[in-house]
Amino acid sequence: MKSEKTAIDKIKSMKGKEKIAMLTAYDYFTAKMVDEAGIDLILVGDSLGMVVLGYENTLNVTMDDMLRHTGAVARGAKKALIVSDMPANSYNDNETALKNAKLFLEAGADNVKIENKPEIAKFLVENKIDVMGHIGLTPQTVTDFKVQGKTEEAADKLITLAKQLEESGCYSIVLECVPMQLAKKITKTISIPTIGIGAGPYCDGQVLVSNDILGLYDKLSPKFVKRYAEFGKEMKTAFGNYIKDVKENSFPKDEHSFH
Ligand code: KIV
Repeated sequence: MKSEKTAIDKIKSMKGKEKIAMLTAYDYFTAKMVDEAGIDLILVGDSLGMVVLGYENTLNVTMDDMLRHTGAVARGAKKALIVSDMPANSYNDNETALKNAKLFLEAGADNVKIENKPEIAKFLVENKIDVMGHIGLTPQTVTDFKVQGKTEEAADKLITLAKQLEESGCYSIVLECVPMQLAKKITKTISIPTIGIGAGPYCDGQVLVSNDILGLYDKLSPKFVKRYAEFGKEMKTAFGNYIKDVKENSFPKDEHSFH
């Protein structure tokens, strides 16, 4: 039986009723696995830059990179809603944002995520593009990679920004690295779902980078990540065993060979 695609309205209606689960994926097979596991939303995040392409940050990620990986994810995921991150400098003005957002939909995304910029979100929504907002630690612009919104003034700014994004028509907002009491306040203040990463348990949903929870990235290990597997270690062991077999000529055997 063909599974039905999750709708934006379904995600919105989950606020206060059922927690929303989101994970990143960047390739066909991971997308297929998270989709079959029952994830609500798949984020083709620009964290691609670090965990797949090996850059230091997200700033070198291009539209071409994101479109190629969005296509791969769309080929793997049948049910989950696919959100693609618009990379740095791809939404500096309304027309550029709209042109690029349309390319994401053509590549297979269902909607896009942008960092901050309520006025750009509004323009996209007016032009029938569904938008997820992203506030708090926004890696495309922030220079201080720490918990955000810690002073009263900074917290107020984030609350205002969340309201502006809601008014712009965003269907949900990612809150990254904010104190959990502030995340709770924002979640109570706005009517659209909040999806937290390093924002505590009171958000309407949670997102993590798949590579982080699977042990497939070793450069950073943020406090907010929970490890569910150690696939990096398993990969190294498997590769080591293969190398040993080849060196010892114990692979290939008869059953791996053509007669
Ligand atoms: O790029 C990404 O993976 C993200 C998440 C951290 C929310 O934006």
